[in-house]
Amino acid sequence: MLDNYIAEVLVSPEELKETIQKLGEKLTVEYQDKNPLVICILKGAIFFMTDLVRAMNCDLEVDFMDVSSYGDAFESSGQVRILKDLDQSVKDRHILIVEDIIDTGRTLAYIVELLKHRQAASVKIVTLLDKPERRVMAIEADYVGVEVPNKFVVGYGLDYKQGLRNLPYIGVLKPEMYE
Ligand code: IMP
Ligand code: MG
Repeated sequence: MLDNYIAEVLVSPEELKETIQKLGEKLTVEYQDKNPLVICILKGAIFFMTDLVRAMNCDLEVDFMDVSSYGDAFESSGQVRILKDLDQSVKDRHILIVEDIIDTGRTLAYIVELLKHRQAASVKIVTLLDKPERRVMAIEADYVGVEVPNKFVVGYGLDYKQGLRNLPYIGVLKPEMYE
């Protein structure tokens, strides 16, 4: 049973639904008539992105990018490598980056710079979760779903060693799972 891995539930399925609905309403206003290119950062953000775009009532396109930031299971290193690049050009497009969680900010700092270098018309970030205590780079999301404490969280796309992404809520992993 997946629930046995979890110490506490931080965001329930109902809260996820409400949070995403509210974000979708704000983004509908922001991107009306801009036909944004919505970029999902694989793999963690897939679950959030598919629900979010269905809460956005405007024209948009989606694309995917997979990056690895070398490091261990718990922390990225800042050396970001592109594993899968975008299919479409970002030049002169309004870009909305969809991320599952901002932790140190290293991954997004790299991606934002890259997209600006490729001459996007605008680059904004929406993240489901934000762990501001852990930030080492000056990166803030334009839209944040839920702020979370400095604990390792899993579910709704977020993984521990590639597992637990399919939990329907955000939970704190039991420390004995990795101690
Ligand atoms: P950053 O570059 O340190 O901001 O790391 C962001 C990435 O690290 C996220 O896209 C997640 O894949 C991963 N990550 C950071 N914190 C957590 C967590 O608490 N649980 C699962 N993955 C996390
Ligand atoms: Mg990730």
